[in-house]
Amino acid sequence: MGQSTYRGNYGLPWVLPSVQQARRGFNEKGLVHEYLPILRLKGLREGAARYCTLREKGGAADADAASDAVAARKVYIPSTTWSNHRLLFSSLGFTVGQFNYYNNATRSLNIDSYLAALRSADHGSVVLLHACAHNPTSLDPYIEQWKQIWDIIKERRLFPIFDAAYLGLNSGDYDKDAWAIRGRLTEPGEGVGRIILQPTPFSQSVLESLQRSEISNLPAFRAKIAEAIMSDDMLKNVWLEDLKTMSGRIAEMRRAFSTG
Ligand SMILES: Cc1ncc(COP(=O)(O)O)c(C=O)c1O
Repeated sequence: MGQSTYRGNYGLPWVLPSVQQARRGFNEKGLVHEYLPILRLKGLREGAARYCTLREKGGAADADAASDAVAARKVYIPSTTWSNHRLLFSSLGFTVGQFNYYNNATRSLNIDSYLAALRSADHGSVVLLHACAHNPTSLDPYIEQWKQIWDIIKERRLFPIFDAAYLGLNSGDYDKDAWAIRGRLTEPGEGVGRIILQPTPFSQSVLESLQRSEISNLPAFRAKIAEAIMSDDMLKNVWLEDLKTMSGRIAEMRRAFSTG
């Protein structure tokens, strides 16, 4: 299994038109290559929070579940998953358990095993879920199955962490792909256990020193492109079309492979 990256026609890298346009905007306005503030770009932080949460406020229960999860230091990751998940959690001192969601014989989702594993997970532990386009199998639960998963998460007081690397690239529709994360929000009074930190002066200084000691200051160019796209409606619409182009081509290639 190797790393996969998107390619356009003739197997060449494809620079998204939304990215090209954002870059053109920088050229017109001029771009200085200075360090960013330690908390980096406000527009990018706010845009990312908005895309995943529908701007709802989190409840006390979410914060409570998060603190239980940090105390429990146990995480369940799917078998198989992106290899960094194990490394990431074990390097943070978590005990890493696995749950099986894949039926190797039929090459399909094994929902019974998935649900049984969640039912027997330790109370208060973390479960790592893929929001869509599960890496490496591409096997996602259906909406009805997600509802069952959410019920167990709530019952067992588990703390779900979503890896949402492929929102929009699965179906071409960002909102549709975000269903697993947002789905519960459609029911009144249902939060989804998300934590978005809204810094007070004190927590901001804690975040700044963590960022400074662990990461310091990353290159800013790609972050500025993402911020430009998220903060401009015209560019955002071009990006939503880009997602359709890429996901459509991937689906077409897969069809061509399977039908020969
Ligand atoms: C499931 C999953 N999560 C996260 C990532 C990493 O994404 P990024 O490089 O944008 O951090 C990948 C990349 O392959 C992935 O497959």
